[in-house]
Amino acid sequence: MLSGRMTPPNFWALDPNIIFLNHGSFGSCPRPVLECQQQWRERMERQPIQFFVRDLEGLLDEARSALAEFLGAQPDNLVFVPNATAGVNTVLNSLNFAPGDEIIVTDHEYNACRNALDVMAERNGVRVATAKVPFPLRNKQQPEGWTPSVNKRQPEGWTPSVYEREIIGPILERISDRTRLLLIDHVTSQTGLIFPLERLLREFSSRGIDTLVDGAHAPGMIPLNLEQLGAAYYTGNCHKWICAPKGAGFLYARPDRQGDLRPLSISHGANSPRTDRSPYLIEFGWTGTWDPSAYLSVPEAIRQMGGLFPGGWPELMRRNRDLALQARRILCAALQIPPPCPDEMIGSLAAFPLPDAETIEPPRSPLYLDPLQDRLLAKHAIEVPIIPWPAAPHRVLRISAQAYNSPSQYEQLACALKQLL
Ligand SMILES: Cc1ncc(COP(=O)(O)O)c(C=O)c1O
Repeated sequence: MLSGRMTPPNFWALDPNIIFLNHGSFGSCPRPVLECQQQWRERMERQPIQFFVRDLEGLLDEARSALAEFLGAQPDNLVFVPNATAGVNTVLNSLNFAPGDEIIVTDHEYNACRNALDVMAERNGVRVATAKVPFPLRNKQQPEGWTPSVNKRQPEGWTPSVYEREIIGPILERISDRTRLLLIDHVTSQTGLIFPLERLLREFSSRGIDTLVDGAHAPGMIPLNLEQLGAAYYTGNCHKWICAPKGAGFLYARPDRQGDLRPLSISHGANSPRTDRSPYLIEFGWTGTWDPSAYLSVPEAIRQMGGLFPGGWPELMRRNRDLALQARRILCAALQIPPPCPDEMIGSLAAFPLPDAETIEPPRSPLYLDPLQDRLLAKHAIEVPIIPWPAAPHRVLRISAQAYNSPSQYEQLACALKQLL
């Protein structure tokens, strides 16, 4: 059932008996990258002192440079962190907020990062202003009071004003003279929307407000140029769409903001007398003993995934997006719903409103979502997330499209949904 879509045999470590439509949650690391990671681990264990004390900093510099090139960043503006959650926590806990300061976030923010924000805000007396961005997005022709449902058809066609009305407007409305920061997803988690980030950054920076971008999903899904983007802070994952081993993320900070940042775990760097590199690089370069093999394998992941198709990364991203759009057409037809957002907002994720859950069950794990997800796996061998949105019993289904997926897998999902809903 693992279709492979022209990827080399044995490339993916995924269970071939499962239709895996959830690359978005944790990625999947190709075998050659896992083998590379194992080689790093063996080198680390063969002579740990040589590895950690003499070699590691230079090796991490090389990996950071390869990642920086991929992200359009200067290597010195980039540090490794284990994941986007750590990146968001790092920035929020580094900045000095005064009681009454405000931070803007949208109601699409990923729960873990929203929690990080709320805990920090409560501790510091910071007010969190939440901008409501509808999903499905509504287009202009919809009458006032229209609510999306599986049975109501939406007039076809989007106008460019959808961005202003539905996203930019509600976010800008939350700005006050106490606003200190915008925390915004580049690609939203539950709803899979690519937010109009360049425009938002322009609006906020012209008002002197910094932005922390949660780009957990963006690297490897959409082309990035972090220097051009110019956000004060941008964090992302390499273990999702770059397909690096788990536990590889990064934090970018503009040079004028690096002095504000301290790692979550203060270590040797804090009193280092070194002057050959920035305190930012020194402190984030060592946060205590850990397994750096995931970071060191990032260049191999970039190389392997970039080698899948003759057109390299641009072709991979384009194929994944084309497949996500094709899957969206298949599933919208099956669910008899219009596309919930313009094609331009789709990368390799797409979400669909489902009929409400009949019962609300207490979550069985921090990441557990909906019993329908279990039924799809048990009866149809399909792994796809069903996510409460905006809150249970309302929910969405979110598909991912990666090089191992094929259109027929979404057809099978469409058939399964017709049986189970
Ligand atoms: C928008 C967003 N932020 C943060 C995260 C957290 O990623 P991680 O668990 O790798 O820190 C996710 C994960 O899906 C996400 O979608």
